[in-house]
Amino acid sequence: SALLNVMVQAAMKAGRGLIRDFGEVENLQVSMKGPADFVSNADRRAEEVIFQELSRARPDWGFLMEERGTVEGRDPQHRWIVDPLDGTTNFLHGLPMFAISIALERDGQLVAGVILNPAMDELFTAEKGGGAFLNDRRLRVAARKSLPESLFATGIPFLGQGDHAAALYEMRQIMGETSGIRRMGAAALDLAYVAAGRFDGYWERALRPWDVAAGAVLIREAGGFLSGMDGEKFDHMQGDVACGNEFMHKSLVEQLQQATLRRKAASATLSALPRRN
Ligand code: IPD
Ligand code: CA
Ligand code: CA
Ligand code: CA
Repeated sequence: SALLNVMVQAAMKAGRGLIRDFGEVENLQVSMKGPADFVSNADRRAEEVIFQELSRARPDWGFLMEERGTVEGRDPQHRWIVDPLDGTTNFLHGLPMFAISIALERDGQLVAGVILNPAMDELFTAEKGGGAFLNDRRLRVAARKSLPESLFATGIPFLGQGDHAAALYEMRQIMGETSGIRRMGAAALDLAYVAAGRFDGYWERALRPWDVAAGAVLIREAGGFLSGMDGEKFDHMQGDVACGNEFMHKSLVEQLQQATLRRKAASATLSALPRRN
């Protein structure tokens, strides 16, 4: 569609810039937004390109972008949600698992998503009601219905931005029930890979709208299911996501609840111990 075309053009143009910067990461200026939370001029340059391209194509629409924040548009109905470089840590280490993520919100609902991994030439696109695609191939979530054969992905929050203890309990739980866990370092790609059937499921806490918005459209259009950690309705403005095919999503939510019970039981046992003074 014309809309997806606008999003794809913006992503591709920013992607070419990212590839140039990726070729000389040692020359980038890098600063920290918090412990273990890096940003570089590659992130900002890519965001500027996307902002310019989308503003030119749809002058009245607003933005929610990772680095620039909110830009109000004259049209109150439409808003772009943009992560110009998802996987900055990978990028800065020369790992080719990074992406540009662009979603469109109409009246608060996600209606289109584009995720581009420019280093691997993989373009994921989806529009509400129109299906999800990887380049020209139609996507479908994995059909697997056996937890012991499944492969899950997760993410670990940056230091101080989420609960590492909870993440450890969750990983231990899923490790014991599945054939493995991957921590790829780019939430947008984790979601795109679930839509593509590469991962059976994925969960992560403490994410931001630009990490999940485009990926959520892909998952839904590929026939997958998403929710918060306890199975509550998915909300891209909240930070938590659990997803997979219908079976894997349900199983994942059950396993995450088990993990929470175990964590609470452990901390209750600890606090019941007599204190040494
Ligand atoms: C990060 C990545 C990472 C996830 C973090 C995100 P950024 O995004 O998606 O996989 O674990 O929570 O913030 O900062 O590289 O755009
Ligand atoms: Ca970041
Ligand atoms: Ca991100
Ligand atoms: Ca980012």
